[in-house]
Amino acid sequence: MIKIGIVGASGYVGGELLRLLSNHENVEIKYATSNSHKNEKISRIHPDLYGLTDLRFSDRTPMEVAQDVDLIFLALPHGTSIKYVPDLIETGVNIIDMSADFRLKDPEKYPEWYGFEHNYPDLLKKFIYGMPELHRDQIKNAKYIATPGCIASSSIYSIAPFLSLSLNDNIINVDAKVGSSGSGSGLDESKIFSERFNSIRAYKPVHHRHTPEIEQELKYVSNKDIKIALSAHSVNMVRGILTTSSIYAMDDEIKLWSLLRDFYGNEKFVRLMMDKKSNYKYPDPKIVIGSNFADIGFAIDKYIKRIVSFGAIDNMIKGAAGNAIQSMNIMYKFNEYESLIMPSLFPV
Ligand SMILES: NC(=O)c1ccc[n+]([C@@H]2O[C@H](COP(=O)([O-])OP(=O)(O)OC[C@H]3O[C@@H](n4cnc5c(N)ncnc54)[C@H](OP(=O)(O)O)[C@@H]3O)[C@@H](O)[C@H]2O)c1
Repeated sequence: MIKIGIVGASGYVGGELLRLLSNHENVEIKYATSNSHKNEKISRIHPDLYGLTDLRFSDRTPMEVAQDVDLIFLALPHGTSIKYVPDLIETGVNIIDMSADFRLKDPEKYPEWYGFEHNYPDLLKKFIYGMPELHRDQIKNAKYIATPGCIASSSIYSIAPFLSLSLNDNIINVDAKVGSSGSGSGLDESKIFSERFNSIRAYKPVHHRHTPEIEQELKYVSNKDIKIALSAHSVNMVRGILTTSSIYAMDDEIKLWSLLRDFYGNEKFVRLMMDKKSNYKYPDPKIVIGSNFADIGFAIDKYIKRIVSFGAIDNMIKGAAGNAIQSMNIMYKFNEYESLIMPSLFPV
């Protein structure tokens, strides 16, 4: 049994960690911190846990939490974890950071994509990118995990297997459609119901922050310098992401399925959507909501000579808390699937 603390537990990702970990047989949730809800029952903010726990939010600082736990999850906005991590590391606590502060290996990317100087290049080397399907062996020996971004996860899962093909262009276009929970629980005018409902908003048509982490991981997989042209839209869903990517390469359908099968082997949480008679012949967020699955599929465009690949995930599970818990299970040599094997909610 390990003791854990969740910092930033009043947010959406913190809530998802609480929900999934509440049934984990090797984990005791010792602290769930919130500055704005000190001493309140966590079920007031996360009503899905009503009647299931008496835990209350604590206003302990991350350093105070670290004194008393084996592992700390930081579910904080980007640019915030970096203020705590250097001191936390001195305490010996293990860390799983949900933000982008330790995802990129190259510190020089931070000013351009995140607007701050990263002054801890040595710490960037110590963090492992928490995508089990790509980094399982490193995660086994890790103390520090940087959990991938949600759009990044869907993109990487659905593009990486195709990169062994010969590419006619090193630019890959990614169109991302994202549910409202992807931007967290913080309030701003653009999120109020009358503005958000029925809208398909191109909220980040260019220069999305997840671009460099997708490029970094695709380089890791293929050794190719891919450029990602990412446009992100918020759509009329609460949870879920669909990424549609144009990869300028060609092969026949059988060869492409076998590429995917070879790449993912027995990975439990990556599903290949091959049933052409199903209503869901291509990945669709609707059928992954509430689960830790990443659904992958593709169409072949012979006219343009491109593969249109699709990835669908629940942004808060395979795109955040699910990959974090899967990484934790690997780090601690627990059953890798503990807390994570469940079908999606259907229909939602
Ligand atoms: N939402 C997603 O789908 C998703 C997916 C992948 C990764 N992520 C990443 O996960 C992290 C958390 O995202 P989220 O969606 O849960 O955001 P969120 O709903 O806005 O929650 C963030 C929480 O952090 C706390 N907080 C804010 N500023 C703080 C500070 N300076 N010091 C300490 N605590 C602070 C807040 O709690 P109090 O004010 O109550 O303390 C808040 O509840 C972000 O880095 C995000 O990019 C999110």
